[in-house]
Amino acid sequence: MRRSLVVANWKMHGSRASVESLLGELLAAAPTAADVAVCPSFVHLSQAVAACAGSAIGVGAQDCSHAASGAYTGEVAAAMLADLGCERVIVGHSERRQYHGESDALVAAKLNAAVAAGLAPILCVGETREQREAGEAQAVVAAQLRGALEGAASLDGLVVAYEPVWAIGTGLTATPGQAQEMHAWLREVLAEIPGVDAGQMPLLYGGSVKPDNAASLFEAPDIDGALVGGASLVAGEFLSIVGAAGA
Ligand code: PGA
Repeated sequence: MRRSLVVANWKMHGSRASVESLLGELLAAAPTAADVAVCPSFVHLSQAVAACAGSAIGVGAQDCSHAASGAYTGEVAAAMLADLGCERVIVGHSERRQYHGESDALVAAKLNAAVAAGLAPILCVGETREQREAGEAQAVVAAQLRGALEGAASLDGLVVAYEPVWAIGTGLTATPGQAQEMHAWLREVLAEIPGVDAGQMPLLYGGSVKPDNAASLFEAPDIDGALVGGASLVAGEFLSIVGAAGA
């Protein structure tokens, strides 16, 4: 039985004050229905780790460097995140692929760096609207998965998030049927990758997950949780999604 996981991706939002109040509300609710992690901006990680210490809420980063250390101005090494107390890191988010030109090879290097530092990676994959309309969605996500995972030294703690690019921040959500179809396909592709226990791996859906669509998505047998952007900035909405994941 796979345990549900709901991850908040706060993206480039927030201030110390808003992080304090949002975390205060989440910690007060002490959600236990599902595993929960929050991924604030780098500058708020230390604050989040301190606030969440001793609670059931884990903390992750939104990205990490491909390199272990060195002259990489502006980058943050996975080992620095682990040293800070982070447990997870998102790699390959479509906004990184889109705005920073991240290739599958770079995502693979980041994933390896994360695992080497003892962080559990959350690997994001997903097709664009054009790719879906061209009938290429399955091929695109399979290539992203294989590109990031084949040859990895270890895949300890790996979680995969399917996030169709056309559904991120747009208010458009994949239907539970569309999402389930892709999750089942991801599990098929994962089963062929050495070192992956496809049956046990949590597969998250991401892309405009809201309180009113979460329950129907989580009913699908291969959807084990969510990576939540916009709705994770409002404590009540995020907690309602966590509740639906554990129902
Ligand atoms: P969204 O973002 O929930 O705002 O669509 C999801 C994500 O990008 O992880």
